[in-house]
Amino acid sequence: TSIGLLISGRGSNMDAILDRVESGDLKANVSFVASDRPGAPGLEKAAARGVETELLPYQNSKEAAEEHLHRLWRRHDLDWLVLAGFMRILSPGFVSSHTGRIVNIHPALLPSFPGAHGIEDAWNYGVKVTGVTVHLVDELVDHGTILSQMPVRVKPDDNMETLERRIHRAEHRLYWRTLEKLFSGIIHTGKDDSR
Ligand code: GRF
Repeated sequence: TSIGLLISGRGSNMDAILDRVESGDLKANVSFVASDRPGAPGLEKAAARGVETELLPYQNSKEAAEEHLHRLWRRHDLDWLVLAGFMRILSPGFVSSHTGRIVNIHPALLPSFPGAHGIEDAWNYGVKVTGVTVHLVDELVDHGTILSQMPVRVKPDDNMETLERRIHRAEHRLYWRTLEKLFSGIIHTGKDDSR
């Protein structure tokens, strides 16, 4: 199984996935880690771990960046593209040419609190349970077949930071497990049998 990872920032989800690939728990080959931001700390971490890194030329245009990504996909004969804190929205055209082959993680229980501030929005709303969702990417934002979810309880003495920490821990536990099930065919994503 050949996968590419997309990141924008610190890359803690990327790290958790690379850990499990290294340990053999997640049977996949990470062909590259690509970022839309040259300064993404995750890129350096990936390079230090010996993974090929790529900068997507979003500074030129979204079209140029996605063309680059198409080329990477072909060159590495990718099976899956895994978004791990990637803060750009892939165009409908790009997504539809890789239907069912792009996965994302979102730090809330979709369909609640989509968007870039899922943790904060759930906190501000005052929910008592939030969590993490892993889903297939479709043409809409933070939308598509849900592959797995993990609830995270909001405790009475939580503040946003403590809640955030537990959500990230849940992400790091959930993502690789879901990917392993997806890659090994335990999760079916066809419309007829998606759960
Ligand atoms: C994660 O919470 C992810 O769900 C969200 O952005 C954050 C990225 O964190 N989309 P990291 O870069 O993986 O540490």
